[in-house]
Amino acid sequence: MTEHISVSRDNAVMRIAFNRPEKKNAITAAMYAALADALEEAEKEDTFRAVLFEASGDMFTAGNDIGDFMSRGVEPADPHQTPPVMRFLFALAKAEKPLIAAVQGGAVGVGVTMLLHCDLVIASKIATFHTPFVDLALVPEAASSLLLPQIAGHQRAAEMLLLGKKIDAHRAYEFGFVSEIVTEEEIGEAGLKAARDVAAKAPAAVRLTKKLMRSDTDRLIGRMQEEGAHFAAQLASPEFREAGLAFMQKRKPDFS
Ligand code: COA
Repeated sequence: MTEHISVSRDNAVMRIAFNRPEKKNAITAAMYAALADALEEAEKEDTFRAVLFEASGDMFTAGNDIGDFMSRGVEPADPHQTPPVMRFLFALAKAEKPLIAAVQGGAVGVGVTMLLHCDLVIASKIATFHTPFVDLALVPEAASSLLLPQIAGHQRAAEMLLLGKKIDAHRAYEFGFVSEIVTEEEIGEAGLKAARDVAAKAPAAVRLTKKLMRSDTDRLIGRMQEEGAHFAAQLASPEFREAGLAFMQKRKPDFS
């Protein structure tokens, strides 16, 4: 349990909110566990028909908590257990109920890659999308190395994944992973409306339609595992140590 993820119900919609604004909603292992628990609960419980991701504060999420990474890595204390981050990612890939995201501000790292698993992504005009994995000496996760080129095309995905370029909401709409852009004032209501609208439709038909649209779950899980192995190796690398220290010391990393 962590107060940094808040889970609430709006009739048939499960609302999951990042709630650690003082740290830009950076995600700790405890938060990943809470996210995974919530998604698993939404899948099991028939009365939930859609899941809405949202956030408090000025950022959607700044991605993985870098300090948490540096102290724990991604390995679980018990090697027989799936790490919380992987539980969350697998739950996203396996979700049979519609996932909606309302992105009110900046999204970084997994804050972007999780959106590639959402069925509807509504962004405010001021939202930004940034996947600086290579700048942290890391590799993409959440099967984004597969999904982003598939959605946006190889060269546009490379702008984000190889160059680590931050893009705005309009560019993300052009890339194809944002479905609608609204104003800052409208974002809260627009996300909830989309989730309520889809939750009001025939549930079996919605589930079957999503299943037909996303028939490659095993491939996504396989890619997540492949990325995860590289990610874990990079976390143990001297280049990640330099990148992590540079972040803590608020300076640019020196990879020379
Ligand atoms: N992990 C841990 N802490 C983070 C964090 C992260 N990913 N992102 C932000 N924070 C913390 C900052 O360390 C800071 O803590 P402090 O107040 O104790 O110093 C606090 O959140 C506020 O962040 P700050 O950097 O002061 O805000 P900003 O508006 O100037 O910049 C960001 C916001 C998101 C641009 C900047 O914090 C950033 O680049 N974060 C790292 C993003 C990242 O690389 N994520 C991993 C992707 S794989």
